[in-house]
Amino acid sequence: MITHRSYAVEPWSVRETELSLDVLAQSESVFALSNGHVGWRGNLDEGEPHGLPGSYLNGVYEVHPLPYAEAGYGYPESGQTVINVTNGKVLRLLVDDEPFDLRYGRLLSHERVLDLRRGVMERVCEWVSPAGTKVRVRATRMISLTQRSIGAIAYEVEPVDCQARVVIQSELVANEQLPQADGDPRAAMALQAPLEPEEDFASGHRLRLVHRTRRSGLRVAVAADHVVSGPERTSTSSESHPDLARLTVAAVLEAGQTLRVEKLVAHGWSGTRSLPAMSDQVDAALAAAAHGGWSGLVAEQCAYLDDFWARADVEVDGDEEIQQAVRFALFHVLQAGARAEERAIPAKGLTGSGYDGHAFWDTEMFVLPLLTYTSPDAVAEALRWRHSTLPAARERAAQLGLGGAAFPWRTIEGQEGSAYWPAGTAAFHVNADIAHAVVRYVAGTGDEDFERDTGLELLVETARLWRSLGHHDHRGTFHIDGVTGPDEYSAVADDNTYTNLMARANLLAAADAVERHPKEAELLGADDEESAAWRDAAEAMNIPYNAELRVHEQSAGFTRYQRWDFAGTRADQYPLMLHFPYFDLYRKQVVKQADLVLAMYTCGAEFDDEHIARNFAYYEPLTVRDSSLSACVQAVIAAQAGHLRLAYDYAAEAALMDLADLEHNTRDGLHIASLAGTWMALVTGFGGTRRKGETLQFSPRLPEKFSRLAFTLQFRGSLLRVEITQQNATYTLLSGPALTVCHHGEDVPLRPDAPAVRAVPPPRHLPAPEQPPHRSPGAH
Ligand code: BGC
Repeated sequence: MITHRSYAVEPWSVRETELSLDVLAQSESVFALSNGHVGWRGNLDEGEPHGLPGSYLNGVYEVHPLPYAEAGYGYPESGQTVINVTNGKVLRLLVDDEPFDLRYGRLLSHERVLDLRRGVMERVCEWVSPAGTKVRVRATRMISLTQRSIGAIAYEVEPVDCQARVVIQSELVANEQLPQADGDPRAAMALQAPLEPEEDFASGHRLRLVHRTRRSGLRVAVAADHVVSGPERTSTSSESHPDLARLTVAAVLEAGQTLRVEKLVAHGWSGTRSLPAMSDQVDAALAAAAHGGWSGLVAEQCAYLDDFWARADVEVDGDEEIQQAVRFALFHVLQAGARAEERAIPAKGLTGSGYDGHAFWDTEMFVLPLLTYTSPDAVAEALRWRHSTLPAARERAAQLGLGGAAFPWRTIEGQEGSAYWPAGTAAFHVNADIAHAVVRYVAGTGDEDFERDTGLELLVETARLWRSLGHHDHRGTFHIDGVTGPDEYSAVADDNTYTNLMARANLLAAADAVERHPKEAELLGADDEESAAWRDAAEAMNIPYNAELRVHEQSAGFTRYQRWDFAGTRADQYPLMLHFPYFDLYRKQVVKQADLVLAMYTCGAEFDDEHIARNFAYYEPLTVRDSSLSACVQAVIAAQAGHLRLAYDYAAEAALMDLADLEHNTRDGLHIASLAGTWMALVTGFGGTRRKGETLQFSPRLPEKFSRLAFTLQFRGSLLRVEITQQNATYTLLSGPALTVCHHGEDVPLRPDAPAVRAVPPPRHLPAPEQPPHRSPGAH
């Protein structure tokens, strides 16, 4: 189905067997390492050649003015852009006077492996210098999941068949030169030289640079320490300059002798801490890492990941590509969220500067579902970050003349960073998405403290927003007009069904939470009267429906619009937003990404089977999937509607988005939502997993290609394993309190050590709906 693959298909790793400069930038994203706090792109150790050099610290950004030809009230004045911070991963190599640069000499072999089980990236290559000296280089790199500020590299060089003079320069480099952006609006505005030097230091094997961003005023400190092992008479020296600190290691090596440098790098940043405090912080982090050394870090990493895989792995028999892809996806989603700790989880994680490093609703609706059932602590942290941005969200709501809080469509720190109203602030659904994530987390964990301390206020402030944004008409019906739903090819529309259903759930959840926590609610000024108004609005919410076609409208009047001329649109005119004016997309029936179809997933109880099937059949021929957030959702609903083959194709598209670079922009960073969507497609699509209140329901059915699908979920303190074959589903309670799940409508009580086996009923056979020409999954 998808033919081009740059990487070998293996169950627990991603292996690149040769270095191709054509896919260098894609590989830098695929091989990116991160823990949610620090991110290193998979740049070559020597620094060059590169596609896009990238070292990121979550929350470090620079501000820039947002230019408008015609400014208007309430337009955000400045934007935030993630910056490339001091690069601590550079190790340059000189072999007999010649720089080890893979563009020169002869590269005999080059292999990189991302080891998903151990959480390290390994590289081995053999190179002959232009003068004929052959060397072997081995490097292993990691970003520690246990020591949040630490990245580490073990770098070894060995002449293969003759003596060689070898120099390794281990560096910290600030303000690296970046390639020019290519004009795709989704790529970051690369900010050149954003760091002002404050301190540089080098002594013995230790290096440190401290800088400050010019406008956002954030202080960034990066320090390195080294352990060098080489033959006798290996020499070292160090030096520092404002933007460069360097340890130079020189040795003469006989054939087969090795020079090894273990480099530990500590990162820190702060908007408030002083220069000496930041220097001390990174030095202390280095001391802690040096305590166990390289081998200690590797051992901790393995233990951390053993634990993760034991509770999160998804096994697929019958499809090696999907097996690899889902583990790759789980690994990267973990990396994006594991140690973000009250910081955003950006759309690209910390794997690239695409979308300026902003976080969107992707976090709450795509990433957090996976983390809720596999790493719930990370979800609490991510939602605490949203909570910490409430002051900015309240201010924004007030600026717009609204009540409560209006969370930004895209941001790093919490302020609205979208300069374009229709696809920005008008996408108010992000507020209900946040509320949805709160409800999901609390139901999935039973974490009442979180609900009281953090969740309640998020629910109350978002409910207030909906109440003030919508209105009751003369008949009492509640409308929310002039909003943009998930489909960005329909903007500023009235009564978007997804938004209204999600807002309804938000209003009710807030009212329920106020009832559960009256004391805390009182402190927020929320009382019974206000809750009653929320319930009234929820009750009276307009859900637009076309009774003639018997389908739900994506928004009021949507089915009346002219259909997009799909037959007249060429394959190379997708994504449409890069080839057609938005005004024309807005006034026609064409759907960028699952919108009504997403509503059927997130608010499934509102739709019966018949409507799921009919709505899906209606919206499929209109949906062009110009966003990577679509395929996974379509997979889930296709599976529910019984179109297992189609669901499989969508799942594969979500799964291979980055490994096969389906949207040709993996170079800018990974599509974290689509990666999380791979899990979603398998677990909630083929596993048919849904949460109803505090119960898990399953309606599993496998596509023909899978002989077995197994996954583990954490739910309310229990660890549950689900194993599905074409014939049966087996539910096993691995640990925790007994619980009752639901299998295709039947209650299944589960006790420890007593797996329950149930038969999988055959799917209904309906004709599969068609997609627009050139847009069926796998066709592009
Ligand atoms: C999608 C949005 C998404 C954003 C970031 C856009 O193309 O339409 O829904 O939030 O990308 O992933």
